[in-house]
Amino acid sequence: MKSAYIAGTGSFVPEEVVSNFALEKIVDTTDEWIRTRTGISERRVARQGECTSDLAARAARSALENAGLEARDLDLIITATVTPDMFFPSTGCMVQRKIGATRAAAFDISAACSGFIYALSIADQFIKNGQYENIMVLGADTLSKITDWTDRNTCVLFGDGAGAALLRATTDKDRGILSTHLYSDGTLAELLQIPAGGSFMPASEETLKKRLHYITMKGNETFKIAVKALTDSVQTALSHQGVSCEQVDLFIFHQANARIIQSVGERLSIPESKIPLTIGKYGNTSAASIPITLDELNREGKIQRGTLICMAAFGGGLTWASSMIRW
Ligand code: UT7
Repeated sequence: MKSAYIAGTGSFVPEEVVSNFALEKIVDTTDEWIRTRTGISERRVARQGECTSDLAARAARSALENAGLEARDLDLIITATVTPDMFFPSTGCMVQRKIGATRAAAFDISAACSGFIYALSIADQFIKNGQYENIMVLGADTLSKITDWTDRNTCVLFGDGAGAALLRATTDKDRGILSTHLYSDGTLAELLQIPAGGSFMPASEETLKKRLHYITMKGNETFKIAVKALTDSVQTALSHQGVSCEQVDLFIFHQANARIIQSVGERLSIPESKIPLTIGKYGNTSAASIPITLDELNREGKIQRGTLICMAAFGGGLTWASSMIRW
């Protein structure tokens, strides 16, 4: 049986930087509150007309280049996003068109901030069962487009970006995606959602007036569940592989809040040096946060052949997931 390894990574964030100080001017908040409660100093925001597939296509091109492959080599594009360009066609199809991946099938998956690990898991199955050789896995979101910029509870948290991992088939048993574990709990859907605009509550004058097309979140409750879910899913990943925290080189967590990540690190006694943080400069970029962090580490030379990486994410759904990868 074949396994899937990450042959290349890429990422892209929009040019426009929005600092905490800029947010002080539009809602009742302070740079100090945002930094101490979340770890965020600034975030990137897409300009008008710049959509999720624009960011994702840039990340995908960069991953192709990193892997030394051409767009026509791709068999499949899976895009994890909750901010598709439109309901349909899928953002994956838009990426396929933009990068010229003429042979590739393309679809999207919806698992909010856990989306990248969900997509990775799907790609891993397609490679293991022998159907495909080269799969582009994308995590891309433009949460700024669905953020209520009058709500200080949420607007200080999010940012836009895209990350990519190019998965390839290998017969080498020592490397690649070693495991993925996916979890959901739909009974807690209301903690983090966009209430209107879908079939449940179609767009109307009233839903627009009530601002129901924006993200709503019960932050404090979500925080507590996130810490437990991330801790549990890392423990499952470790025990499934029969390894201890000490044997893992890097823990890449979804970047929702630096305090969530620190709590998980403390519970598992992971040294801070093994937990990279990119939230300070990008905020919470949803499905993009893990692949952006992965790409930065890869390009900085902090990931080498043999590096053991544990990833874990948590988000709306609720969904959470973990994965263990040997580079
Ligand atoms: O990405 C996937 C899932 N997302 C998460 O996992 C995010 C989880 N939640 C969080 O990260 C945190 O709960 C938040 C950052 C959203 C909030 O931090 P918190 O420490 O849980 O604060 P809180 O919601 O308990 O609010 C504390 C106070 C409240 O004031 P009172 O009621 O104590 O007077 C809020 O109104 O902070 C107030 N507050 C703010 N103050 C200044 C909330 N937002 C702001 C703000 N600036 N932007």
